[in-house]
Amino acid sequence: NYPFTMNERGHLEIGGIDTVELASKYGTPLYVYDVSLIRQRCRAFVKTFQNLGVKAQVAYASKAFSSIAILQVMKQEGLSVDVVSEGELYTALQAGVDPKKIHMHGNNKSRRELEMAVENNIGCIVVDNFYEIELLTEVLEQAEKKIDCILRVTPGIHSETHQYIITGNEDSKFGFDLQNGQADQAFQLVKDHPYLNMKGLHCHIGSQIFDTEGFVQATKILFNKLRDWNEGFAYAPEVLNLGGGFGIRYTEEDKPLPLENYVERLVDTVKQESDALQIPMPEIWIEPGRSIVGDAGLTLYTIGSKKHIPGIRDYISVDGGMTDNIRPALYQAKYHGVLANRVREKCEEIVSVAGKCCESGDMLIWDLPVPNVNSGDILAILSTGAYGYSMASNYNRIQRAAVVFVENGEDKLVIRRESYEDIISHDLSYE
Ligand code: LLP
Repeated sequence: NYPFTMNERGHLEIGGIDTVELASKYGTPLYVYDVSLIRQRCRAFVKTFQNLGVKAQVAYASKAFSSIAILQVMKQEGLSVDVVSEGELYTALQAGVDPKKIHMHGNNKSRRELEMAVENNIGCIVVDNFYEIELLTEVLEQAEKKIDCILRVTPGIHSETHQYIITGNEDSKFGFDLQNGQADQAFQLVKDHPYLNMKGLHCHIGSQIFDTEGFVQATKILFNKLRDWNEGFAYAPEVLNLGGGFGIRYTEEDKPLPLENYVERLVDTVKQESDALQIPMPEIWIEPGRSIVGDAGLTLYTIGSKKHIPGIRDYISVDGGMTDNIRPALYQAKYHGVLANRVREKCEEIVSVAGKCCESGDMLIWDLPVPNVNSGDILAILSTGAYGYSMASNYNRIQRAAVVFVENGEDKLVIRRESYEDIISHDLSYE
């Protein structure tokens, strides 16, 4: 059920390349991405909007995995890019992304970040709070420039994996509240400022969401507010940005919908609501991150030590862990793994996969069925393409792993492994 195959040697393949060979060529831990799968995901979003004849922008949420190479792929696929910091913005600009297709997010954008955005004439700022409006107008007045703004609002919906909860009052650090007049006040400020163009509204209801209902409810809540602004000021938005959050499969328990379904449901809802309000259909923007890169990536590890605790558990340790994938430790996230060099063999043992950090919580998978595992076997953990590399750390001074892209039967190193020199490159002497 995972998008990977096995070759005649019984080795796991990704994009037609033997993962065991990749492990020996580049070393482990190693993140590997199937680029053709990433392109398929991009196209599923873009094509569905096109087929429905709806004006749209699909902005890749680069927090999921930002690097020059991945953003070049996004550029090739015609996607926009969502950035949330000067580092992500810098990376997008260096990758040659058209600044007009960059959207900037963040609940505490600094003056420097806003200046960088304005200097580079990026496509839009997703305005988050009153302090930001103040800073942004100062920056724009100084530069004598205008910029498109989208107001981030909190519709008061919490999407849990299989349900959504609507709350009257949102408790969130992001965006303007719809219920207590903050969004109305922000709308006035942006609408009336000569350097700000009130382009539309934004909301993001959460991440790793499987059903479409939360998106529909959030859209309806935005339209309730738009009704006020339409009646009061004859305002009609050019754009509605409905965020990201479309779920992917990590383990068999996860049952994501085809990406097309989310798009169709969003388009239907926005169409109905704008007809009811008698305004032209706005453009629909979305910001998927995980659903574009998540299941297209896997991580290869070499298995080292084993520990058998009679009657309790078997541990196997790998040469990475929470430094390359913090998600199990941070969110109790679940993953599936396979022995890449022995895919064909029957699973006979249940082991728990530990990382190498000096911390008991550094676990990657609990209770994974595997063949009789040996030190030196290669473990592939699947669906690690999102929020893996991007949340990696140097804890215990472990070097960040390398990233390899695979496409058309070829593999290419796109982020090199950190070296010892990299590890101390910012250290200054105190002697
Ligand atoms: N747009 C906004 C405003 C967001 O805050 C996010 C994610 C996205 C788009 C992209 O969501 P996606 O399509 O990737 O679900 N580190 C966590 C996920 C944090 C997501 C934060 N915002 C994880 O590893 O699960």
